[in-house]
This record gives sequence, structure tokens and C-alpha cells, in this order.
Amino acid sequence: MYHSSTLRIHELTPAERAVYDTLKPGSLPEHVAIIMDGNGRWAGRRLLKRFQGHQQGARSVQLVTETASRIGLPWLTLYAFSLENNLRRPRAEVNFLMRLLRSYLESNVQRMMDNNVRMRYIGRTHDLPPEVQERMLWAEETTARNTGTTLTLALNYGARSELVDAFRALAAEIRHKHISPDRITEQDIHRHLYTAQMPDPDLLIRTSGEMRVSNFLLWQIAYTEIYVTDMFWPDFRGIHLLEAIANYQRRERRYGGLSESVGEVEENPERIRIAAG
Ligand code: FPP
Repeated sequence: MYHSSTLRIHELTPAERAVYDTLKPGSLPEHVAIIMDGNGRWAGRRLLKRFQGHQQGARSVQLVTETASRIGLPWLTLYAFSLENNLRRPRAEVNFLMRLLRSYLESNVQRMMDNNVRMRYIGRTHDLPPEVQERMLWAEETTARNTGTTLTLALNYGARSELVDAFRALAAEIRHKHISPDRITEQDIHRHLYTAQMPDPDLLIRTSGEMRVSNFLLWQIAYTEIYVTDMFWPDFRGIHLLEAIANYQRRERRYGGLSESVGEVEENPERIRIAAG
């Protein structure tokens, strides 16, 4: 259950409130991650330019973050710019996305403050243009003491390169502290990920219907529930986040165990004969 002082349910729209009221307060996700896809297609359907899709996508980022903060979601992580986007998209589009990110931060930090949202980043952000990094740092420092939702933007992010960075850091630690490699645990790997301070996502949402994980949080989504919607990201709003959470709550998470409804095993499995051949 979330800390009640962070809840601002009265600020939800009536439509959002109607969905929120169907949720089970005891099993809300702690961490929702989103692969924001379909900006280009959204624009194409309207005979607009791709950059206009990205602009509308930035608006969705803000609106969804505000709904997340109203329901007291502790962690929201958005895949805003992948390493592959950086390497494979035309330079003009990459430059536009960088300018959009800068202006997004400039115009929305005050709203982040009003919503008690703390901003963080994951990814190889040191390879982003210096003027973008400078605004990112400013937004992070300005919002650092906020205690509501932590909004993490994945920027110049790739999960495999995150694992490479983690293994490099772990190898250096092992060498330095003379630790035997067979003592490495899952926890040691977790400690060296960009997400070391966060719980793993409970729910991963992907917009625009694609059934792919696209190199996002590969280690962290081992037991995450996945929800794919056909909606394009620029159309995605807070109410759709709530609908995804409602869908998530209808799932049964077993983490490799048995369903609760299975109950006691009636017969001792040791006594069951296994027919060979
Ligand atoms: C996918 O659309 C989305 C991205 C390339 C990145 C997401 C970027 C934003 C939501 C806008 C800016 C974000 C912030 C935080 C200010 P696509 O271009 O891959 O769409 P398509 O698959 O339809 O071509």
C-alpha cells in the first residue's frame, strides 16, 4: 500500500477516478516501465511530420507522469531514447529529439515540482550533447528533494550495454577486492545496474502494438507482467495507465511457483510411480 500522504486522488479526472475506483489498493504496482512507441505512425496517420508526433509524445509524458504522481506510484520509468535510436535514426531526427528533451525539461520542471516528482536518468547519458546533459542535471538537482513519484527517463539507454557496464564494474571490484568469481551472486549484478536503487518493474507497458522488448531493462523484467496496447504513444493518457494497472491486477503472478488456488498437494509425489520407457 502506498503512503497516503502522497495520494492526490481528488485531482484525477472523473473518468480516471472511475477506473481508479475499480483498483485493489493493496496490490498496486510499485514500478511501471513504459516503451513509448508509435510517435512516427501517429503523425503519419494525420499527414503530419514525424517531429510533430514526438512533440505530442512529450505531452503524453507529462500527462501520464502527473496521473502516476496523483495515484502515488513510487516508480515510473520511460524509454525515451535508445542507444539504437541514437545510432540508427537520421541525424536531423536525433538532433530534434535532443532539442525536444531540453525544451521539455525547461518547460516542465516547475510542473514536476508542483507534482512532487523526482527526476532521474538511466543510460549512457555522458555521450549526450553537453547542453542537454547540463539541463538534465539541472532538472535532477531541482527535483532531488521531491518525495512522490520518481520519474526515470532512459536516455541513450540499451539493456545490453547496461549489462556490459555492470560486468565491467563488477570485474573491477572483484579484481580490487580479490573476490573469487564463484562467489558472484545475482545481488552483485543488481548492485552494478543503473537501476540499483529501484525495485524491478511490476508492469511493462508497450504502446503501438509491437510485441518486442527492444533491449529495455532485460535483467530487470525477468518476472514483469507485460501489457501491450495498439494505441500510439501520443494518444496515451493517464486513464490508459490506470486501465493497464487494472489489467495487471487481473493477472496472477507466480514467480515460477504454483497458483494459490492449487492448495495442498494431496498425494506424496515420492510415492507416485513414474512409468519408464
Ligand atoms: C517512438 O516513436 C518513440 C521514440 C523514438 C522516443 C520517445 C520520445 C518521446 C515520447 C518524445 C520526447 C520525450 C521526452 C521525455 C521529452 P517512433 O518514432 O519509433 O514511432 P514509429 O515506430 O511509429 O516510427
